Amino acid sequence: MKEHQIISWEQYKATYKHSIEAPEVFWADIADSFKWHKKWDKVLSWDFKKPSVQWFEGAKLNITENCLDRHLATRGDKVAILWEPNNPNEEVVRLTYKQLHQKVGQFANVLKRNGAKKGDRICIYMPMVPELAIAVLACARIGAIHSVVFAGFSANSLADRINDATCSLVLTADGSFRGNKIIDLKIIVDEALARCTSVKKVIVLKRTGTPVTMQVNRDVWWQEELEKVAHNCMAEVMDAEDMLFVLYTSGSTGKPKGVVHTIAGYMVYTYYSFINVFGYSEEDVYWCTADIGWITGHSYIIYGPLLAGATTIMFEGIPTWPDAGRFWAICDKHQVNQFYTAPTAIRALMAKGLKYVNSYKLDTLKVLGSVGEPINEEAWHWYDEHIGKKNCPIVDTWWQTETGGIQISAIPHVTKLKPTYASLPLPGIVPCLVNNEGEELHDNEVEGLLCIKFPWPSMIRTIYGDHERCRLTYFSAFDNKYFTGDGCRRDADGFYRIIGRVDDVINVSGHRMGTAEVENAINEHPNVVESAVVGYPHAIKGQGIYAFIITNNPVNNIEAFTQAVLQVVNKAIGPIAKPDKIQVVTGLPKTRSGKIMRRILRKIASGDISNLGDTSTLLDPSVVEAIKKGAGLIA
Ligand code: WTA
Repeated sequence: MKEHQIISWEQYKATYKHSIEAPEVFWADIADSFKWHKKWDKVLSWDFKKPSVQWFEGAKLNITENCLDRHLATRGDKVAILWEPNNPNEEVVRLTYKQLHQKVGQFANVLKRNGAKKGDRICIYMPMVPELAIAVLACARIGAIHSVVFAGFSANSLADRINDATCSLVLTADGSFRGNKIIDLKIIVDEALARCTSVKKVIVLKRTGTPVTMQVNRDVWWQEELEKVAHNCMAEVMDAEDMLFVLYTSGSTGKPKGVVHTIAGYMVYTYYSFINVFGYSEEDVYWCTADIGWITGHSYIIYGPLLAGATTIMFEGIPTWPDAGRFWAICDKHQVNQFYTAPTAIRALMAKGLKYVNSYKLDTLKVLGSVGEPINEEAWHWYDEHIGKKNCPIVDTWWQTETGGIQISAIPHVTKLKPTYASLPLPGIVPCLVNNEGEELHDNEVEGLLCIKFPWPSMIRTIYGDHERCRLTYFSAFDNKYFTGDGCRRDADGFYRIIGRVDDVINVSGHRMGTAEVENAINEHPNVVESAVVGYPHAIKGQGIYAFIITNNPVNNIEAFTQAVLQVVNKAIGPIAKPDKIQVVTGLPKTRSGKIMRRILRKIASGDISNLGDTSTLLDPSVVEAIKKGAGLIA
């Protein structure tokens, strides 16, 4: 492991300099530690205008040989995946590298038996059980492209994603345990598939025992299929730039985008960033609490850790069940060394009080991580004092679905820690700040729009089925730069502090959501004429969802109307998109060209109605007064 790990400040500076001055030499050296069927002809070619980015062109490989086969001789009996069930009394599952290798091979054969082949898209809609990780790796084993959909999304959202990528298979389970609830996944899949013609087979894992209807010729039981196949599956030899997966994420327009990552670059980058950001060493037990339905789970539960030969924990449940001490109980139970979670979880647990923390030792922890949203100072210090016992560096990791891996983060015991600062770029990453005119800001102590001006191996290659949208969204705002959508500050030391999205994307409990997506959902209610959704500061969620709604007919029973709107949103997207506050209004502040001035709505939503700035360009400024008056009357 030590080979590519940065362990001192001097080394960081030298490595960073080298990675910028000779990126191809730098990344080729890291890539050299992997198993390749054929090495690359060229390390990098790129053109951000198209955009077109290729890493390790001409190379042949299979990522699962690097996650699994490569470790068999040296770490075959080491635990690869340690699974902690929802119910703390149910048995823990420990899969060694040997066992995981076999299970992936076996399930890869199940996929083949059910018609899957190289290049097919396979949708995975599953609970956080070991079979989910096995399924992901089995897809990669046979060269199929996985599209994992977070199992909290509604049937509608699932169907949209299946159709967008024309998936031929869906992998799911009868149900999912979440605290004391059961979510009937198969029923949701059935509802979604009524709208999907591309799906030929559904493989269903029995997990909760929930009764399900199996459709003849389409649905098969996972466990029964396993019995029909061998354990060994030769890895399909893939091109470096073949697609590894599609993962849908929200943007500022209504329709989620299928972010595409390709094999070799993603492999090299997730490995390298994992070992450095978490300072992983061979005996460590590493735990990332994310769901595999998000990029954090892809890169830092499955691929990064397994590429590094780590022991990675998968947790099925939720942080507050059976009580708010569950995370800390698991840390003690499995002697966790690196713990990686989201600020929203920290704030939620902080609010429950120290009695849930104090009965645990937490003495094996070495590094704490944060991801997904800005971490506020109060949460940072609580995490540092009560979880890390002031003895564990906190790595505040900034990155995105599109970046594939962590871009800006401290390296433990190397980078100075500053609460709320993601801090410095990892080697190979060249961030910059630009102003609204697109001019790069070269000084320190400035604030601007965060861009990245040189390719890195795990960057987005395209949006599935819509390359032009990829160009427009990320590469057209500023010449020759990848635009992140985030606002950011750089301080006198050159440290970066992420401020938040500058587009119409909100971040609710670390979940990325487009305001337009939520508006489209709300507008499906028959009594809604128009709606405008903005984020507002929320003590636990980071941002809450505030919806301003114009109705056809007057609302007599606001409580019933609110419930109906929540139901509509729940059905269209899922519970994570339900508005926290709903205000019925008679008009929305619009410019003469018909654009909603969200700046004003954001201020009202945050309770700051004293100075709304310039409203002179509004078509009808009296609308604002009416909204301000009604702002107290919210549901
Ligand atoms: C935000 C999650 C502040 C940011 C890995 C980004 C953060 C969006 C941080 C991507 C952080 C992520 N500090 N903000 N450490 N990490 N973000 O695609 O706004 O779900 O653009 O990827 O989350 O969210 P995504």
